[in-house]
Amino acid sequence: MEENRATWDDRAEAHAKSGNYHVADFIADPSYLSEVVQFDRPRLGDLTGLEGIHLQCHIGTDTISLARLGARMAGLDFSERSLEMARDISTRCGTSVDFVRGDLYEAPEVLGRQYDFVFTGIGALCWLPDIAGWAAVVRRLLKPSGRLLLREGHPMLWALDEERDDGLLVVHHPYFETVEPETEETSETYVETDAVLKLGRWHSWNHGLGEVMSALMTEGFTIRLFEEHRSVPWNALPGHMVVGDDGEWRLTGDADRLPLTYTLHADLPG
Ligand SMILES: C[S@@+](CC[C@H](N)C(=O)[O-])C[C@H]1O[C@@H](n2cnc3c(N)ncnc32)[C@H](O)[C@@H]1O
Repeated sequence: MEENRATWDDRAEAHAKSGNYHVADFIADPSYLSEVVQFDRPRLGDLTGLEGIHLQCHIGTDTISLARLGARMAGLDFSERSLEMARDISTRCGTSVDFVRGDLYEAPEVLGRQYDFVFTGIGALCWLPDIAGWAAVVRRLLKPSGRLLLREGHPMLWALDEERDDGLLVVHHPYFETVEPETEETSETYVETDAVLKLGRWHSWNHGLGEVMSALMTEGFTIRLFEEHRSVPWNALPGHMVVGDDGEWRLTGDADRLPLTYTLHADLPG
């Protein structure tokens, strides 16, 4: 976890400066929304006046977007450098968002209150070793009748070999949650940047769809929406993908071959 945090700290400024996070668009246009929030907007319902917490908010672009849809937002992340970026962007946007530092598994104690909804995803769950523990945290953060809004990379996508360059999609990493993480050492990141990044170590865990849903149901959630998508908001399989006007990447060739992301909404009882 400490190596992951250090790697996120080192990447945060490069992410904020990269065109991929569209910070200049957020500042220039008060109605601009992140492509991630824009994608799921038809599914989100009316968030006006609701209190929301964005778990693993990174530099806060999705958090600010949800505030622009009328929610009263807070964001939590364990990377202080990411939160510095988030606070700076939020100030420059004139948005009121509370950004709090904390580890995901300590979020109920760190935040000390409950919310109408939890928003999370797009490269969030893969940094967590224990999906059952995550679901318990989400349940504890929600008021009765509270809702989880999740869009995440599909576990089949995370299981593929992203470095394969012979045109084949090959299953290489675990689909199911494992005790030991997959570890990668790299001085690269997932945005376009000229910044010189430190050699960092990423430790990640996959979580199968059944594991995610079972963890939520064990905590008393009812799954009210589940959709698999043919697109993903980053270039997840370089050499296999094309980007559309919506900022979403799709497989070249037959996009029906593989789900790349999913949206899952789940409710607690009243
Ligand atoms: C790819 S971002 C996901 C957020 C959003 N989709 C985005 O792209 O801006 C992953 C975030 O998870 C955070 N993170 C990873 N592990 C965490 C943990 N155990 N507790 C809190 N935050 C964590 C990282 O610091 C990083 O900011």
